[in-house]
Amino acid sequence: MGPLDLRALMVLSTCCHFSTAFAWTVNNFLMTGPKAFLTYASSVQVGAKNGVQECKHQFMLEKWNCPESTLQLSTHKGLRSATRETSFVHAISAAGVMYTLTKNCSMGDFDNCGCDDSRIGQTGGKGWIWGGCSDNVAFGEKISKQFVDALEDGHDSRAAVNLHNNEAGRLAIKATMRKACKCHGVSGSCNIQTCWMQLADFREVGNYLKMKHQQAKKLEMDKKPVRAGNSADNRGGIVQAFKSIPPTELIYLEDSPDYCFKNQSLGLQGTEGRECVKGGKDASQWERKSCRRLCFDCGLRVAEKRVEVVSSCNCRFQWCCTVKCDKCKQVVTKYYCARHEAGRKPQKKTKRRQRARRH
Ligand SMILES: *[C@@H]1O[C@H](CO)[C@@H](O)[C@H](O)[C@H]1NC(C)=O
Ligand SMILES: *[C@@H]1O[C@H](CO)[C@@H](O)[C@H](O)[C@H]1NC(C)=O
Repeated sequence: MGPLDLRALMVLSTCCHFSTAFAWTVNNFLMTGPKAFLTYASSVQVGAKNGVQECKHQFMLEKWNCPESTLQLSTHKGLRSATRETSFVHAISAAGVMYTLTKNCSMGDFDNCGCDDSRIGQTGGKGWIWGGCSDNVAFGEKISKQFVDALEDGHDSRAAVNLHNNEAGRLAIKATMRKACKCHGVSGSCNIQTCWMQLADFREVGNYLKMKHQQAKKLEMDKKPVRAGNSADNRGGIVQAFKSIPPTELIYLEDSPDYCFKNQSLGLQGTEGRECVKGGKDASQWERKSCRRLCFDCGLRVAEKRVEVVSSCNCRFQWCCTVKCDKCKQVVTKYYCARHEAGRKPQKKTKRRQRARRH
């Protein structure tokens, strides 16, 4: 987590959750703080990594594919943009951290936290009562907030937008949770069930947030243009602008740059050289259109490459107990976005695109 560790640590150690007030001396303050910090820090890191991995999966075949250069979370340094894409990065990272902390808690990885048993024994609905191990999202939410939101200490509209998107990510965890139940009763008659709330697969959280990314709303601040590093003078405007936005929705401030093209100052590679997928039988709509999206829409052509792929094959079971496989070579065709060869007429679409670029 680099240079930001210290700030996150300070936030955590000033919080008095981990000890009773009167046993709290300067000495054990100094010991308990960092110790608590270290207990959670590795989970936070794992969670943030899972968030990034999910981001890369969700955007694998999009023009913007969640490159490292746009993953800078803090508003402090580097890229201070607040686009539709950075809104997704914030949400999925916050969600990843909350998810992992919550899972760790349910698995008994932390001393001071366990399943959410607040409703155990209560009637939940017709024919079922609360029981089992409900995932303790309140714990995950609280601790993840202390780490992730601590990275935003500005008071400008960007910080406000980032915090909003972090929260939307955490809400996605709650929105995708579902009830799981177990039957009880005479010989499995199931006349009474116990149920608990459990986290969805993280993939589902990713799918949910990808949909929120598509529906993200641009925050319109009245009159004054929003400028980088702007501070207190537009705080009233920020509060006003946020009023109409539900907490579950992603928001952004700036239109996205054109991800088709390389732009060094923004750390963007462009789509030249990217692999796309041509429809196979089981390709989804999204995959089938990927060559158009990544190549043609960006004024590039699709180049075919025959590549040799080595995989396991002819596997057989051997007594006892191993599986032996051969290595089989197979030539497959892969597709990449490439520039039009010089002198060759580009397609109509390309011409239009190039004209648009010149203006
Ligand atoms: C939390 O869970 C992750 C895997 O989901 C694991 O790698 C990590 O070690 C766990 N943290 C603790 C403190 O056990
Ligand atoms: C890179 O992006 C910035 C900001 O959108 C823009 O002003 C600049 O012209 C772009 N540079 C290139 C080479 O396209």
